[in-house]
Amino acid sequence: MNIVVTGASKGLGLAIADKFADDRQGHTLLLCARNEQRLHLATTYMQARYPRARILARACDMSKKEAVLQFADWILHKVDKTDIVVNNAGQFVPGSVHNEPDGALEQMINTNLYSAYHLTRALLPGMMAAKEGHIFNMCSIASLQAYPNGGAYSISKFALMGFSKNLREELKQYNIKVTAVYPGATMTDSWSGSGVDPQRIMKVSDVANMIYTASFLSPQACVEEILLRPQLGDL
Ligand SMILES: NC(=O)c1ccc[n+]([C@@H]2O[C@H](COP(=O)([O-])OP(=O)(O)OC[C@H]3O[C@@H](n4cnc5c(N)ncnc54)[C@H](OP(=O)(O)O)[C@@H]3O)[C@@H](O)[C@H]2O)c1
Repeated sequence: MNIVVTGASKGLGLAIADKFADDRQGHTLLLCARNEQRLHLATTYMQARYPRARILARACDMSKKEAVLQFADWILHKVDKTDIVVNNAGQFVPGSVHNEPDGALEQMINTNLYSAYHLTRALLPGMMAAKEGHIFNMCSIASLQAYPNGGAYSISKFALMGFSKNLREELKQYNIKVTAVYPGATMTDSWSGSGVDPQRIMKVSDVANMIYTASFLSPQACVEEILLRPQLGDL
């Protein structure tokens, strides 16, 4: 299979890419992140560990429409079709509507919503023609409920959930599955410096394992939502 994962140089995206790369079937992974050096390091290490996989990577700022479209073109030149798209790239900036900096919402919407919207639209024609595929959208529990310091981030994640739900309805008839993923707190760089005990929150592999499993069900079954929380609940 050909599997696209955005924001794959660390955190959840890297864990998801790693999980598919580890598959004995030997998939092709098409990955991106902004920082080329870190992306190169991550993918070189992954390729060395999983020689069956074919790992391709390209730097891309998914908050910029032109860059997203170039990334999509690159994907379509590398592979004849995309089987799985994981719209994971995203950024968490805490804030409150009343006092977050001007432009915070634009930044969060560009990074957390338009990234997924533009990439999906560019890849969909091929998937619709093939009448198969699976799109995962990395939402958050911040898509489901408001919480202190949610601000523009939470608004953008609510919007991503709306995108995912609409896509699910549209794509049923094309045999393309859509899954909204709602993780609670998961140990990544997003939590670095927070002082949170890593044992209190989830591991990236918890989320990666669920996505991997959801992608191998029978064609007639679609996991519409994956909602995961730390065992002791939200922080
Ligand atoms: N960790 C959690 O608790 C949690 C919970 C719920 C949902 N999520 C969601 O899960 C996703 C991944 O979060 P994470 O915690 O794994 O974050 P992370 O550790 O900070 O990793 C983010 C990844 O995305 C890339 N990225 C960030 N902005 C990008 C952009 N504009 N274009 C392309 N790549 C970009 C980063 O690389 P570069 O910086 O080099 O671009 C990195 O590879 C996000 O959508 C986040 O909202 C996380």
